[in-house]
Amino acid sequence: KRVVAFISGGGSNMVSLADACASEDFPAEIVAVISDKPDAGGLAKAAARGIMTRVFERRAYGSKIEHELAILDALEVIKPDIICLAGYMRLISGDFISRYEGRIINIHPSLLPLFAGLHTHQRAIDAGMKIAGCSVHFVTEGMDEGPIVAQAAVPVLADDTSDTLAARVLTVEHKLYPLALKALAEGKVRMEGGKAISAPGT
Ligand code: GRF
Repeated sequence: KRVVAFISGGGSNMVSLADACASEDFPAEIVAVISDKPDAGGLAKAAARGIMTRVFERRAYGSKIEHELAILDALEVIKPDIICLAGYMRLISGDFISRYEGRIINIHPSLLPLFAGLHTHQRAIDAGMKIAGCSVHFVTEGMDEGPIVAQAAVPVLADDTSDTLAARVLTVEHKLYPLALKALAEGKVRMEGGKAISAPGT
């Protein structure tokens, strides 16, 4: 399967996906990395792996729609089967999503449906959670609310700060996302009727 990863920052999740895709029996390859930030650190990491990179800076376009249309035009040429949002800090419109229904996934650093949105680690600590974690979900129009594909949990320690918890969660994100992508690429999970349907036993 052809995968395009969308990043806005360091791209550590994109790197973990790229590294997983590099093993020859992995059922997907990252054919391009798209960013809305020209200074995204992940761009250099993608280029170093020989992955095509494209930047679509929001301010270069008159509107959100024009920004998305430019990206969609590029995707018409690249022809991805799957889009992986990986630290992409921009909401995608319903029109865009409908073009790739059930083929866009995202990784979010909380155990959804808890703590959708930003500052998830501090919110988990403030709420006195004893576990935290990350979720891979299908992207739908609402923010961080699509059907969940996979999750992983980590302990919240008494002396955790948002930084120490974020680091613990990020390590697990890097393991979870490739597994979720593999399942989607192999058809072991799909979106149907607004739900994530998994193959028996998975
Ligand atoms: C990660 O915590 C991810 O869950 C969130 O953005 C953070 C940075 O990701 N979406 P990356 O290092 O840019 O992949």
